[in-house]
Amino acid sequence: MLVSTNQMLIDAQKGGYAVPAFNIHNLETIQVVVDTANEMKSPVILAATPSTVKYAGIEYLIKMVETASDKYDIPIAFHLDHHEDVEDIKKAIKLGCKSVMIDASHHSFEENIKIVKEIVNFAHRYNVTVEAELGKLVGQEDDLIVDESQSSYTDPKMAKEFVEKTGVDSLAIAIGTAHGLYKSEPKLDYKRLEDIKKLVKIPLVLHGASGVPFDSVRRTIEDGICKVNIATELKIPFATSLKEFFAMNPNETDPRKYLIPAKEAMKKVVIDKITMCKSSDRG
Ligand code: 13P
Repeated sequence: MLVSTNQMLIDAQKGGYAVPAFNIHNLETIQVVVDTANEMKSPVILAATPSTVKYAGIEYLIKMVETASDKYDIPIAFHLDHHEDVEDIKKAIKLGCKSVMIDASHHSFEENIKIVKEIVNFAHRYNVTVEAELGKLVGQEDDLIVDESQSSYTDPKMAKEFVEKTGVDSLAIAIGTAHGLYKSEPKLDYKRLEDIKKLVKIPLVLHGASGVPFDSVRRTIEDGICKVNIATELKIPFATSLKEFFAMNPNETDPRKYLIPAKEAMKKVVIDKITMCKSSDRG
């Protein structure tokens, strides 16, 4: 059965670690994440953006993750990442999804509150955990592109008001990370994170962790981050391995041959990120 991310994140908050949320796209990427998390005894979140849902189908995704969580004893959650369409979220909840992100961060503060509140009211009737975002990360996630001029950091006082007014369960904040890779090392605003942590008691979420140095992510976890989202850094080794495989074996057609090294390459990154989150032996 799928579990919500609520207890997972509260446990992480108490334990001083973060639960890694890996963006998955298909059976193979789900297998790599759950098999590795199981080996390391880490709780894990499998995240799907709207374009992943469009590509793989919500019914397939839910059944695949349910199968994984029946197979292993570690806490495994399926989470809708960066969803904007209220009706899509309600449909996924009715199909059994236990954790959702409603991303209304590109709307005004008041509109963001209104949209998030609607989802919270609906989701809580089904015991579903809701994540929302305040502030805007630079970069591209799915079709949503935010350039430098549109990005904004999370204001601590507004974060407090936002959480009180929406009743949301976890909050994604903008403190200097970006979606996708970085041109130079990101400078994270740790002071802002500390200020938010003083005012906001629910679990805090760090998006855009690909390319952020190990020690910087570790510091955000020490300062109160309980969930770390990783997407781009998993796609790169998978794709690089496939390119290398076909350069060496141009006539190979069997997916069981070329997908195995791609999965192994991705697994190395999953191990590093679970280690970075300090979540091993917490599952
Ligand atoms: P990255 O692709 O930068 O790791 O961002 C992932 C993310 O925040 C998904 O919500």
